Amino acid sequence: MTLEQKQRGTHMRAMRAEQFSGYEGLKLVDLPKPAVSDGRVLLRVTAAGVTPLDHTILSGQLPLAKAPLVLGNEGAGIVEDGGGTDVPLGSRVMFTGPYGVFEDGAYSEWLAVRKENLCLISEGVDDVIAAGIPVAYLTAQMSLTLAGFQAGKTVLAPAIGGSVGNAVTQLARALGAKHAISSTTNHAKAEQAKALGFNEVIDMSFEKLADGVRRITGGALAPGGSLTTLGYSASRKATINVTDLIWKQASIQSFMLFAQPQAAWVDAWNVIVPLLQSGAIKPIVAKTFPLAEAADALRYLVEGRPFGRVVLTI
Ligand SMILES: NC(=O)c1ccc[n+]([C@@H]2O[C@H](COP(=O)([O-])OP(=O)(O)OC[C@H]3O[C@@H](n4cnc5c(N)ncnc54)[C@H](OP(=O)(O)O)[C@@H]3O)[C@@H](O)[C@H]2O)c1
Repeated sequence: MTLEQKQRGTHMRAMRAEQFSGYEGLKLVDLPKPAVSDGRVLLRVTAAGVTPLDHTILSGQLPLAKAPLVLGNEGAGIVEDGGGTDVPLGSRVMFTGPYGVFEDGAYSEWLAVRKENLCLISEGVDDVIAAGIPVAYLTAQMSLTLAGFQAGKTVLAPAIGGSVGNAVTQLARALGAKHAISSTTNHAKAEQAKALGFNEVIDMSFEKLADGVRRITGGALAPGGSLTTLGYSASRKATINVTDLIWKQASIQSFMLFAQPQAAWVDAWNVIVPLLQSGAIKPIVAKTFPLAEAADALRYLVEGRPFGRVVLTI
């Protein structure tokens, strides 16, 4: 960026995947600042959530994504233009959507985001925490709804330190689950979970998942129960005994956040926001990295398997 461009504010810094060749494909570049257009709001991005999807794309495992691409499918920012009365100038908002997947994303100083992808950030929730909320909590809330969750039911969401596992566990607990069970493969994380008040976490370094679930609930998947498959951190392949579904008249379904209808997004935010405001759910951030260290941040998320979110500060 030339000094003149910097002074005029026409350019911005962004972390762009030049090729989908792994961490080294990610480069700090100068790009023109996006213009606000119909239905979009110009944000000065303050923080971006780092997700496993960014890694899937960067390692060339999502053929629909095309390089070069600024990564980052969620974040937080301040409204600078185009918000109208719903999201006035200066509002703090969090967002997720097709950014960093089908168009340039949140690993950048500015982003033009569709209005329907925004949610105002509650007072008392800072931008770093907010940046890591949308993907995990929308996924968690929508998949609980699709699975027919109600107060009094039992939920198992593996990986208490993972963003989705933690969000499902926190939401299920806040919404009155009989049991909100999670797991971890790591003994230190099990201890950390206990210290944070998650007291139905199966420590898989001591006990098999199914044994832990039986110990807590007296059975595995309940009659008429539902299993939602939405992630692939441990593997893309699994084997099941189909009679476990048949005898119990249970069901198995998939979930994809970005394919859900707009009404489901609105309903999910309407559940999540009051729980955030009341402190009934408390999103956890493990570590922040500056924008230019996005590759290290992704490596830390995928290889370090932290307890809580990884967030870029911008
Ligand atoms: N379908 C959708 O719409 C949707 C939406 C959001 C996320 N996802 C997907 O859901 C999955 C979880 O997302 P997330 O954001 O919760 O991920 P995350 O924060 O990285 O957590 C993943 C957790 O999986 C556990 N794990 C078990 N085996 C692992 C292995 N071999 N390698 C890495 N982790 C392993 C780890 O916990 P332990 O260390 O305790 O084992 C880790 O904390 C990802 O595949 C993501 O792409 C899908």
